[in-house]
Amino acid sequence: MQVYKKRLDIRAHVADLYKQNKTIGFVPTMGALHEGHLALIKKAMDENQVVITSIFVNPTQFNNPEDLLNYPRTLATDIALLSSLSPEIIVFAPSAQEVYGEQVKSTNYDFGGLEDEMEGRHRPGHFDGVGTVLTSLFTIVKPTRAYFGEKDFQQLQIVKKLVEIEKLPIDIIGCSIYREKSGLALSSRNKRLNKKQLDEAPMIYKILKQVKNDFGTKSAIILSEWVSEQFANHETLVLEYFEIAKVSDLKSIMKKQKNTKYRAFIAVFAGEVRLIDNIALN
Ligand code: PAF
Repeated sequence: MQVYKKRLDIRAHVADLYKQNKTIGFVPTMGALHEGHLALIKKAMDENQVVITSIFVNPTQFNNPEDLLNYPRTLATDIALLSSLSPEIIVFAPSAQEVYGEQVKSTNYDFGGLEDEMEGRHRPGHFDGVGTVLTSLFTIVKPTRAYFGEKDFQQLQIVKKLVEIEKLPIDIIGCSIYREKSGLALSSRNKRLNKKQLDEAPMIYKILKQVKNDFGTKSAIILSEWVSEQFANHETLVLEYFEIAKVSDLKSIMKKQKNTKYRAFIAVFAGEVRLIDNIALN
């Protein structure tokens, strides 16, 4: 298995792949790999001749220093897992200096307002960090297609906008949310949950499913109130936000309109660990 740490080395390999007209599928990750990542990688393997995955905990997308400090880092296990999936996968695991040069800071992006909603409102600067690191990684890896999970649905929409703004000829592919049997959406942060939090966290998806079920007959306001009630005085889970938003611009709604696609979005704290999830409503 080839593991690159230096941008110049992987660029030389990518230049070689280009000479051979190979299609490149790219799965950017922050490591602590789980089945959800592996599903993205398997899809990339099915649809491309070569697959590159990056493992890089990007400091500029963390608005909370504690979260950055505690983010799980499991590079050796990740590499072993990827190699058992396929020794052909190419890994790029750079240092911050390789990605950013001397100054680890993000560029300010205008994603047409997508960046101001939900995650953007609660994690200031987060999407500037995501946009900056992905622009750098896309420039190094030059993929044909790049794969992102719908768990971070807002990120997926923003990445589609990013390639438009940066005029990068990359197909951005969204993949369905991968869940535990309990319904809990897979996330690297789940590794930080204790037993009680793990037992309680599946309630998040149960609530989303109930909202989907009731969406045809109840208003967005009534549903939002109902969700808040479910978390009021909950021992383990604290609701940060629940929103029903239009898929097109991610703006929260009070009233439904005809011929419009909606999704429900939720962020919840289990102790220090922040969990997000979402569901298509129609
Ligand atoms: O979704 C993630 O893991 C990160 O936001 C990404 C896309 C790898 C950028 O650092």
